[in-house]
Amino acid sequence: MPHRSPLRLAIAGGHRGAAFASALDSLENEIDLVAICDTSQQVRARWVETNPAIRVFDSFERLIDDPNIDAVFIATPMTLHAQQAVQALHAGKHVLSEVIAAVTLEECWQLVEAVERTGRAYMLAENYCYKRETMFVRNMAEQGAFGEITFAEGAYIHDCRDLNIHTDGSLTWRGNMRSGSTQSSRGNGYPTHSLGPVAQWLGINRTDRLLRTTTFVTRSATRQEWAQSVLPEGHPNGMPDAWANSADSASTLIQTEQGRVISLRFDSASPRPHNMVHFGLQGTSGAFVSRRHDEEEPLIWLEGVSPGVSPANFNYAGMARPEGHESMGHPQWQVLWELAEQYEHPLWARHGEAALRSGHGGGDYFVLKDFAQAVTTGERPPIDVYDAVTWSCITPLSIQSVRQNGAPIDVPRFNRNS
Ligand SMILES: NC(=O)c1ccc[n+]([C@@H]2O[C@H](COP(=O)([O-])OP(=O)(O)OC[C@H]3O[C@@H](n4cnc5c(N)ncnc54)[C@H](O)[C@@H]3O)[C@@H](O)[C@H]2O)c1
Repeated sequence: MPHRSPLRLAIAGGHRGAAFASALDSLENEIDLVAICDTSQQVRARWVETNPAIRVFDSFERLIDDPNIDAVFIATPMTLHAQQAVQALHAGKHVLSEVIAAVTLEECWQLVEAVERTGRAYMLAENYCYKRETMFVRNMAEQGAFGEITFAEGAYIHDCRDLNIHTDGSLTWRGNMRSGSTQSSRGNGYPTHSLGPVAQWLGINRTDRLLRTTTFVTRSATRQEWAQSVLPEGHPNGMPDAWANSADSASTLIQTEQGRVISLRFDSASPRPHNMVHFGLQGTSGAFVSRRHDEEEPLIWLEGVSPGVSPANFNYAGMARPEGHESMGHPQWQVLWELAEQYEHPLWARHGEAALRSGHGGGDYFVLKDFAQAVTTGERPPIDVYDAVTWSCITPLSIQSVRQNGAPIDVPRFNRNS
């Protein structure tokens, strides 16, 4: 149902929520931040300091009871997302959820059911889908620039060991998840940053769908060593078996109905510099590779557009050779941005400057803008509940696959009407 504008938004989970402050400033005509909810007194106090007019809640249940709130942005620990989203939807609120949407298959189905029953808007705040290069490549893919896409890859490799243990030595929610103390963590625990953009390039849940997936993990080495080195001797979280039910790196393969393969890697433990954007794509007439670090540029090669010609085009007797091919040389990568005139995504062309001013590479700005638009118009959110659970279910499916020594596991068809 179309909604009034500006949208009266509340944020639950004020730490990550605070990162959206400047994007919210740029979107003041679309969104009015009216309330914040956090169980930590310190976090609530910080919000009141910078935003004295804001209504403050220490309980999620009381927050969603407030009739003067239209929508809730859930930025609490990952293990709470699905349960809180279901509660908020049933309380009549629209929901924007931080990643990942759900950590078990049961939660995925509960989320789908709650959205279908309540008819409220639900969107996953997958900001990696809105980075300039991922949207650029999506625009190219949708225009057929790569020919038929056969393979795509994404990785999230980010040394987050310090986020596992509080300064008093106790485990954070991430530590609880990664140590496997609450459920097995031997799998791909954070798939949506890498799978989200790739799924959009491949038209997953539109023209193709995920069929089955398999995951292998490495042994748990770095977290164990690190915990032992930073905690006092004999601390339970530094004991030799404390992180045994974990893994440093998980490699996931997914096959799609149309015979494409997606490769994902997740590693939040191994020591190395963080590379924010880590993607690749192969089509029948072009390829994309993202930069390996901040000093590099993303690269593209498109047959007939980029410099050089594939040797396959003139190595065989009797085949037509392109005129002047001797001087054309082998294929060479081109910097992606050189094709901006033709392939810049229209959203970035129109709002790129405002998005960049809002920080975090622009992703947070577009997430909020698209969510507000979906609620206001009543249109399908660009990352809807079916996308959210299709991408997030890789976590429980990967854990299942690892338990079965890498066996392929079927991906559920969450949208029963598709
Ligand atoms: N999209 C991104 O790039 C990105 C980046 C960082 C974090 N995240 C996601 O954001 C979420 C939060 O991550 P974080 O790093 O801010 O974690 P955090 O632990 O630093 O913050 C979580 C906050 O939630 C509060 N909280 C806990 N239980 C609550 C409850 N029941 N009701 C209300 N508030 C509660 C805590 O007091 C804390 O302030 C996670 O799901 C994470 O995956 C996404």
